[in-house]
Amino acid sequence: MRRNPLRDRLLAVLSVVILLPTVAHSQERSLKEAVGERFKLGVGVGHGVLQNAADVALIGEHFQILTPENAMKPQGIHPAENEWNFGPTDRFVEVARAQKLEVVGHCLVWAKDDRTDEWMMKEGDQPVSRSTLLRRIETHVNTVVERYADVVTMWDVVNEAIGDSDSNGLLRDSVYWRTTGMEFIVTAFKAARAKDPDALLIYNDYNGHKPEKRKKLLEFLRQLDEKGVPVDAYGMQGHFELGDDSLSQLRETFDELRKLGLKVVVSELDIDVVTRGRWWADGGKYREELAKHDPYKDGLSEELHAQLSKEYVALFQLFTDYSDIIERVSFWNLHDGQSWLNYFPWKRVNHPLLFDRMRQTKPSFDAVHTFLKTGAVPGQDENSRSTP
Ligand code: GLA
Repeated sequence: MRRNPLRDRLLAVLSVVILLPTVAHSQERSLKEAVGERFKLGVGVGHGVLQNAADVALIGEHFQILTPENAMKPQGIHPAENEWNFGPTDRFVEVARAQKLEVVGHCLVWAKDDRTDEWMMKEGDQPVSRSTLLRRIETHVNTVVERYADVVTMWDVVNEAIGDSDSNGLLRDSVYWRTTGMEFIVTAFKAARAKDPDALLIYNDYNGHKPEKRKKLLEFLRQLDEKGVPVDAYGMQGHFELGDDSLSQLRETFDELRKLGLKVVVSELDIDVVTRGRWWADGGKYREELAKHDPYKDGLSEELHAQLSKEYVALFQLFTDYSDIIERVSFWNLHDGQSWLNYFPWKRVNHPLLFDRMRQTKPSFDAVHTFLKTGAVPGQDENSRSTP
């Protein structure tokens, strides 16, 4: 039979709607219900995931807001100046609308050259001029925001513009920075605000809690505030590694953001179990060895499950303490089998989330759910419970 995309889509939506009650109700403990009014709970998933009824059911049970993992990124949705690839994002938001889920628009500008198409960087065979680049950014933001503003409640307006700790500049070197200075950020935020006045506008980045990068982040946000740029929140990606103990740095960062009157979203939460840090150490000399490092093919030991649980609970304790400024916590991917950390930066079997490859809850799920419901913390006795 010939493929009929419209029929396939209808069938996918129908199967989701029909299966939803049976699959969802088999799960009795809902994370979003346990989180309550603290903040919104979300998850970032690939657009293909939303065509799978079991995944959609799991999402509906536990989460209220979805981030498209790749489809809406500039290189995904806007492959050439006058060409748009709306299909995958349209299908994504169609399911979100049908399930009454909110969506995070991710992301309007990704301020990295290796995440930017040639057409954006060039004008004929010359580097793009400042006015053309700003006009292209404005057109991109206007077009995407206008199309999805009904279902998107938060936008990652600019992603990863700040220089890493080992670079001198405030912003990373990119075509955007070289050509416009900070102006591309001003243009993107102002355009997003004009097209979607009620949405939360986010600046999203990684490692903003690490002292050197935090200094840059705060300076960056102060400068934007001075220029009257409508940034509502800092998006802390939250790609942690087991054992990295960032709690006090996170507290210090959240305190500073609160002083600036900004909200926080935890935009891409996971805890890498087959940790990746050494991949970049000492000029990459461990890469050959790491490329063969795949220690948990058969699953995690009880000890590691316990450690993962403890670290997730500590994070949710912290998020609870700062729930006056935290608007949302989103996991990055739905279950272990779908995590990007199975491939990045090398191929391995990873276990960074609360659901396993069979979509079953893990001990980390149990611990987080119990903490959210009762305040109980693994390894702490009953009398020293905090109030949830
Ligand atoms: C960054 C981006 C995300 C995603 C991750 C890796 O954090 O913001 O969209 O690409 O890298 O998957």
